[in-house]
Amino acid sequence: MKVAPSLLSCDFSKMGEEVVRIDRAGADLVHLDVMDGHFVPNITIGPCIVSAVRPYTKLPFDVHLMIDHPIDYIDAFADAGADIITFHIEAKSDIDRTIEKIRQRGLLPGIVIKPKTPVESVFPYLDKLYMVLVMTVEPGFGGQSFMADMMPKITALKEECKKRQLNVLVEVDGGVSEKTVGAVAAAGADICVSGTGVFKAKDAAAAIKFLQESDKNLC
Ligand code: DX5
Ligand code: ZN
Repeated sequence: MKVAPSLLSCDFSKMGEEVVRIDRAGADLVHLDVMDGHFVPNITIGPCIVSAVRPYTKLPFDVHLMIDHPIDYIDAFADAGADIITFHIEAKSDIDRTIEKIRQRGLLPGIVIKPKTPVESVFPYLDKLYMVLVMTVEPGFGGQSFMADMMPKITALKEECKKRQLNVLVEVDGGVSEKTVGAVAAAGADICVSGTGVFKAKDAAAAIKFLQESDKNLC
C-alpha cells in the first residue's frame, strides 16, 4: 500500500523541512488538505502554500479540496504544482465539469466521499476518475478517530471496478495509523493518508514502512 502523509499534522512553521523529512522517510505521495471555512469548519492552506513547498520534493502532490466551489480553484492548484486533485461529491461544483477541468490541466482527478455519503454515489463517475477517496473521519480536522464501519465502501468500490474492468485507485483518509491500518489493507485500499500517525510518530520512517507493508501482513 502507498502512504500519503498529510501535512495537516506537520509543523506549519517549517513546512518545507517537514516535506523533506517525510520524503526521506519514504513517503509515496504528499497529501495537502485545503479547507475554506465553509465546506468544513476549519481554514488551512491555499495555493500559495502549495507552491511554496513544491520545490522541496519531487513526490506527487495529492491535493484534497474541502471547499464549496472546487472548479473555481483548479487552475490555481494546477499552477501551484498539484498532481492529483480530489474534490468532494458533496461540494457545489458540477461533478463532470470539475473532473473535465482537472483532466484539461493534465492532472489526475479524484472524488471524495464523506462518511454519510453512500459509496454508490460515485459509481456514475468511475470511468472518468483516477481515484476515489473514502473519508474515515468527518473532514475538517486531523487527529480524529478512525471509522472502521467505512471499510465496506472500499470493498464495494473495488468490486464495482473489477466488474467494469476499471483501474481506479482507492485512497482512505482519516485516523489511519499503525493501530487501524490493518482494516484498511484488508479491505483492499491502494493508498492511505496518515497525518498524526506519521508526523507525530517517534520514527516517521518506521511508521511509513509499517503502513506500506500492512497489506503484506494479511493472513
Ligand atoms: C481531515 C483530513 C485528513 C486528516 C488526516 O479532514 O482530510 O487528511 O488531516 O489526519 P489524521 O491521520 O491525523 O486523521
Ligand atoms: Zn485529507
